[in-house]
Amino acid sequence: MKILFLTHAFNSLSQRLYVELVGRGHEVSVEFDINDQVSTEAVALFAPDLVIAPFLKRAIPEAIWRRHCCMVVHPGIPGDRGPSALDWAILGRETHWGVTVLQANAEMDGGDIWAAAEFPMREATKASLYRHEVTEAAVAAVREAVERFAGGAWRPQPSASYPARRLGDWRPLMRQADRRIDWQRDSTADVLRKIRSADGAPGLLDHLFGRDCYLYDAHPAPGLRGAPGAVLARSGPALCRATVDGAVWIGHLRDKAHAHPFKLPATLLLHEELASLPEIALDTADGYREIRYEAIGGVGYLHFQFYNGAMSSEQCERLLRAYRAACRSDCHVLVLAGGSDYWSNGMHLNIIEAADSPSDASWRNINAIDDLAEAIITNERQLTVAALRGNAGAGGVFLARAADQVWARRGVVLNPHYKDMGNLYGSEYWSYLLPRYAGEDNARRISQARLPMGVDEARELGLVDEILDADVRRFDAEVRAHAEGLALPDRFGPLRAEKIARRRRDETEKPLRLYRAQELERMRVNFYGFDSSYHVARYNFVYKVPKSRTPLTIAAHRRRGNARSMHE
Ligand code: COA
Repeated sequence: MKILFLTHAFNSLSQRLYVELVGRGHEVSVEFDINDQVSTEAVALFAPDLVIAPFLKRAIPEAIWRRHCCMVVHPGIPGDRGPSALDWAILGRETHWGVTVLQANAEMDGGDIWAAAEFPMREATKASLYRHEVTEAAVAAVREAVERFAGGAWRPQPSASYPARRLGDWRPLMRQADRRIDWQRDSTADVLRKIRSADGAPGLLDHLFGRDCYLYDAHPAPGLRGAPGAVLARSGPALCRATVDGAVWIGHLRDKAHAHPFKLPATLLLHEELASLPEIALDTADGYREIRYEAIGGVGYLHFQFYNGAMSSEQCERLLRAYRAACRSDCHVLVLAGGSDYWSNGMHLNIIEAADSPSDASWRNINAIDDLAEAIITNERQLTVAALRGNAGAGGVFLARAADQVWARRGVVLNPHYKDMGNLYGSEYWSYLLPRYAGEDNARRISQARLPMGVDEARELGLVDEILDADVRRFDAEVRAHAEGLALPDRFGPLRAEKIARRRRDETEKPLRLYRAQELERMRVNFYGFDSSYHVARYNFVYKVPKSRTPLTIAAHRRRGNARSMHE
């Protein structure tokens, strides 16, 4: 079928549905919902059999839904309606939630239902639930809805026929007042729930040191107590604030009045205000934790829970120290477990944007990632596995490929390209790793593409070695079973010997340092050269400048020569 995605952005859910539907043989094209005219034009150009709205912030124009079957993916259970479905579900302590695929009509989220899927809620941020549970449920429901539509006989059901808990309720956009924290009354659990209901967007608006700041990235701070509302301590990027029955770490803030109104580590944004507070060591049981190492059954696991998968110079340097320490252990296998939502999205573009010299900050960041990649590639004592529970993008994908094996959870989406970031050349030894693991032809295909990639394609191309069919709850156990198998002497021994021999051969052919030098030569031009595309693209990304048109890479209907678009 020809399926048109009408979407506010090509976000993680749209990317995953795109990968799934293309994988099932459908022809999928994407149009950003910029205005009615653009959307109507896209429908006319593509003439789709079906329109799907995976992530829409406003109603589909009547001229479209009257003539075409349009399915809206709503992140709520049947009967739930409104633009803040997940926010209300988290704040309302729902134990189960779901995704409903509705037929678009005149009533927002009120159309008949094509399919629905449920999931148990987890104590996590809205963004984390969206990237895991909502996405999996949406894939199941959209798959079912598309099959029903293709079958021709099935008719969508009125929502009244579903055993809904909140039938017909329209719940408005959640306002800051609906989740405002009362530091004199709210418990730690209340504070965490409120912040998580607004994390990633819009963030929970609060006051800190006389400034209006949005709070993100909140975690319990066990053992710390103080006067409710008082800021007690700092640890790495985070500040600690007391509640009535404990305290919370807050890792990231956004200050809308500040020169850099985007998310930054709290201690970077409030550097002066927090300087005199007691400091609790980062990555310790008492402090804020990003990097954690554990050894179980002869396998070492390095967890790096970096907010949004972004890796600053300092985070890469710390991770490198942790990796080197793990290398000195007697574990045969080291698993780079990443974080719960992302494995890695490469350089930390927000911190780079906020730096006095973004060029210098980019240079330091790419070198810090390269140092880490180099340590992984040249480790002769252990086998390293990159275990991708969450997605990876740009340099994060190539950093994963630096490991001897890459295992990915089914459902993970990779974006193994830098081109959308102002045609960055990229580093992380990709020019060595891609031909080495994917072969020359696939390396070319990967480095020239700009599309998201599912794990089946990634395995075919050599970016992933193994796909683990486990949902996010069972993924760790599955990784552990596989890793312990790999650590057994009869598997570990020959694989390690083979790896050492291969690396030495490769080094003789072309030293690793040459790959790095050649990549960095190009990156230096990206960072310091006359062409400012990277700086412009980074600015647009960090400031979330809305796209004024859909990139042709995904808008297949606009690539055809037969249509003159209004953009041209
Ligand atoms: N640095 C800083 N923040 C980053 C980031 C990075 N490298 N990558 C992602 N983020 C942030 C986004 O700004 C967004 O922030 P929000 O919570 O304020 O909304 C959040 O992570 C999720 O990203 P989003 O783009 O909405 O997720 P996605 O799943 O739709 O797309 C990517 C994933 C990887 C395709 C996309 O985030 C991306 O292109 N990132 C930049 C990768 C890059 O170019 N890195 C530098 C070169 S190595």
